[in-house]
Amino acid sequence: MAAMTNTTIPAAPQPPLDPNTDLNLSTLSLTPSLPDFSTTTATAQHAQPTHLVSHRSHDPTTNLKRSDPFQFGSRYLNPDDDIYEFNAWDHVETDSSYKAYAEIQYAAQRSSPVSDFDKARFNNDPSKWWNRFYRNNTSNFFKDRKWLRQEFPVLAKVTAKDGPPTVILEVGAGAGNTAFPILAGNENEGLRVHACDFSREAVELIRANEAFDERYMRADVWDVAATGSESLPPGLEEGSVDLVVMIFIFSALAPAQWRQAVRNIYTLLKPGGEVLFRDYGRGDLAQVRFKKGRYMDENFYVRGDGTRVYFFERDELMEIWGGWKDGADEGLEAVERSGSEEQTDRGEDDVEGFDVVDLGVDRRLLVNRQRKLKMYRCWLQGRFKKRARMSPNKTKDSSGQ
Ligand SMILES: C[S@@+](CC[C@H](N)C(=O)[O-])C[C@H]1O[C@@H](n2cnc3c(N)ncnc32)[C@H](O)[C@@H]1O
Repeated sequence: MAAMTNTTIPAAPQPPLDPNTDLNLSTLSLTPSLPDFSTTTATAQHAQPTHLVSHRSHDPTTNLKRSDPFQFGSRYLNPDDDIYEFNAWDHVETDSSYKAYAEIQYAAQRSSPVSDFDKARFNNDPSKWWNRFYRNNTSNFFKDRKWLRQEFPVLAKVTAKDGPPTVILEVGAGAGNTAFPILAGNENEGLRVHACDFSREAVELIRANEAFDERYMRADVWDVAATGSESLPPGLEEGSVDLVVMIFIFSALAPAQWRQAVRNIYTLLKPGGEVLFRDYGRGDLAQVRFKKGRYMDENFYVRGDGTRVYFFERDELMEIWGGWKDGADEGLEAVERSGSEEQTDRGEDDVEGFDVVDLGVDRRLLVNRQRKLKMYRCWLQGRFKKRARMSPNKTKDSSGQ
């Protein structure tokens, strides 16, 4: 067990990577904390093209803007491609040297965990650290999530002119970098976006944004893991939400909060309503690059600014969402049981819960072409649908989604 210390966290020495726009590649460093590992690191970083290769950027069918690395699903690395010709490639598995480097990093991280005293500081009042974050970073830290409609086509449907009346709840909305892009293209008069965050500072940023339009939007302070009378956000009742958007928020929770968060979301959704989810995957560069003194628990870290982050395995999310059941502590049991058992062993009474509509691992290789650096990113993206069959006293009209 780590010794009790009263360490003060230095002022944001390592800001969180913006999950999808951290393209300031020149400022990223993969230098490990332990100099002994420099050889492995160098191997992981520097992959030299071995022979002259075709130039796909000169081919009009593949010549997506070279500097547009978040045009998803469009550029696949072929064996004869020059890896440094573009600055991003889709669905690239990590290579063995990077995997080895990652394991070395994890071992170093585990060997120097956050002290129990500091764990308590970060876990007891996490909104305090996010409030600080938004005081320091305002609304410009995260870039607008412009890929939302592409990745979640239902958003295009509900923002179309002839879209159905739709209530969207964004959980952990931050400064509005997801909520505003959804509303920016909206032509549906019947769309309402509730943007919630447990950081008061974040909510103030949303309300102060010139795009904040009260006809279609409201912003409130709400902790998704709250219990009792606080478990629903202001202005929303049970079974009233069509879509819950969760973009890089679940990772900010401690594992002990997952069940309550899922329960609250379940309660809020209409039967048939969906969660649109994207978050960090295990092995992402943001995890691998953590240095000593940031490890809180397995796959769970605290950043230099005091905000927490978890990195998920796909199977873990399958169990958390697909294996969740309402009632006392069933969620925990479900997480402990195998996901497949949950999926196949569902009895007649077992009608509550989520169906995992899809859950994919999004791997991308980002390249700093100038410095010849390779950076592996890994995100998980999925949709979880609240089952439409419910006990009669809980049933509300389905949104028809
Ligand atoms: C990485 S930011 C993502 C912000 C936003 N979703 C986006 O895409 O830009 C995580 C956000 O989750 C919020 N958050 C963390 N824990 C929360 C909780 N328990 N309830 C509600 N919001 C939370 C933080 O305040 C922060 O704004």
